[in-house]
Amino acid sequence: MAYITSAALEQHGFVILDRYDQAADPQEWRDLEYVDWKSSGITRFAPLASAQGEIEVNGFWNHTPPRADKDGVWVTSQVERAPNLVRRAQEPGANIGRCRVIELQPNSYVDSLYNLHQDDNNRLNPDGTGWIVRGYYNLSDDPQSVMILREDRYDPTTEIRIPLAAGTQLIVDTQRFWHAIWHAGPEPRYSLITSWESGPELDAYIAKYHGTSEHTNPPLDQQVVDDAQAKVQRRLAERAATVASKSKA
Ligand SMILES: [Fe+2]
Repeated sequence: MAYITSAALEQHGFVILDRYDQAADPQEWRDLEYVDWKSSGITRFAPLASAQGEIEVNGFWNHTPPRADKDGVWVTSQVERAPNLVRRAQEPGANIGRCRVIELQPNSYVDSLYNLHQDDNNRLNPDGTGWIVRGYYNLSDDPQSVMILREDRYDPTTEIRIPLAAGTQLIVDTQRFWHAIWHAGPEPRYSLITSWESGPELDAYIAKYHGTSEHTNPPLDQQVVDDAQAKVQRRLAERAATVASKSKA
């Protein structure tokens, strides 16, 4: 058996959909209730769907009983404040797991490389069902910020940088890619993140909004890349040394 995956994501692991007219909607993310939850930078999260419909953002596998990132329960008080965000998450008609708005404070390129990680979206997801991928819909207007994707965490030649203007809509296999956001600021960045189950519904949605993996990175000076690689390697080595000394103590 194998997971059901999306042909559109098979080769490149991400698609960029048509840009959404974000300015036409109210800024619902400003009305939501956020919880402090550190994830790849200085972040807070506003759950729209969570494991049990509570205002908390833990992985569904950390609940009792543990379960896959599917069948998220809508948080009533949040849904009332953000009907457009909920409508957008529900539009594909695919099963939804975690659905939340993330708030991220500004950071640097080095920070973002340090923060590169792979998501654990498919923990406990039964073989033979749909592979979980995630939507990243930029709510604030951050054209100078980018989502960084790397097939190989330490190889900058595998890097994809997708600018995050308001209304940018990405669907990414974040369990495949090392990923993080480089957010220029100066204001916090807001993004709607939805876990969707791959299948015919999601495929039809990607086709409807002309999902494409064709993309050219915005330019970035090679010296900036090289310096950041060196700095992040140092930071990672320092962290490893700290962890080692703690485990000895
Ligand atoms: Fe992630």
